[in-house]
Amino acid sequence: MRTRIIGQQFIRLAQVDSTNKYAADLLSLNKAAHGTVILADEQTAGRGQRGRVWRSAPGLDIATSVVLLPDGLKAPDQFLLAKVAALAVHDVVAEAMRITVGKPDRVRIKWPNDILIDRRKVAGILIKNEVVGGLVMNTVIGIGINVNSSELEAEFNATSLRMETGVEQDRLGLLEQICVRLEHWWELSTSRPAALDDRYRELLWSKGRFTELELDGAPITARPVDVGPDGRLLVELETGEVAAFGLERLRFAPR
Ligand code: BTN
Repeated sequence: MRTRIIGQQFIRLAQVDSTNKYAADLLSLNKAAHGTVILADEQTAGRGQRGRVWRSAPGLDIATSVVLLPDGLKAPDQFLLAKVAALAVHDVVAEAMRITVGKPDRVRIKWPNDILIDRRKVAGILIKNEVVGGLVMNTVIGIGINVNSSELEAEFNATSLRMETGVEQDRLGLLEQICVRLEHWWELSTSRPAALDDRYRELLWSKGRFTELELDGAPITARPVDVGPDGRLLVELETGEVAAFGLERLRFAPR
């Protein structure tokens, strides 16, 4: 690994129910060092956002979890971890797109942390933080990337790197790049957190464009303008009013 911390403890599993669950179990046994990376070749019960199932093709895609032990990260600032993860995965997908099709700009972050190529989801992130006494004690960053799979269910509006580039991708090489970029953004998150805010804002999918969302379950049209430090999405409503909403109230309309 070309990293100092992330991936120095590396666990590769032929099969596991969920790398996020495996990481949580390690943490509960006090056996996960800061930067531990768990990679599954096959995940049998991958977890997605909102209690959904996450499917990855055995041996073809990336299903990985990274354990970080933040030092003094306050609970209200925990969205910083989502930014670290989304920016790292963005960078790796964008670099693969740059090398093969010369189009890194087609890769965007859909709030809070889906990675899209154009309008299709290529990667998802599921983060579990443990907060004690107002501080984030540990975090499990679960990352699923559709790398070489080609039979994605159309209704999920998903894509893979292979489908977008036409080129078989080096799965372990990409994982190493993820570790490198996670380490980069993790280090910046303490020394220059504003750099993460700026880059995340630049990459925000549908920023400045009126789009369909759901607020408290009802359809609305609004345009995302930024993300607050607490992770809430700032949107401009059709009335011109700007308001911030969290995931419990606002989501992009299913497509
Ligand atoms: C999403 O729904 O977009 C989040 C998907 C996160 C999937 C990854 S795969 C590795 C890790 N282990 C899991 O069970 N889930 C995450």
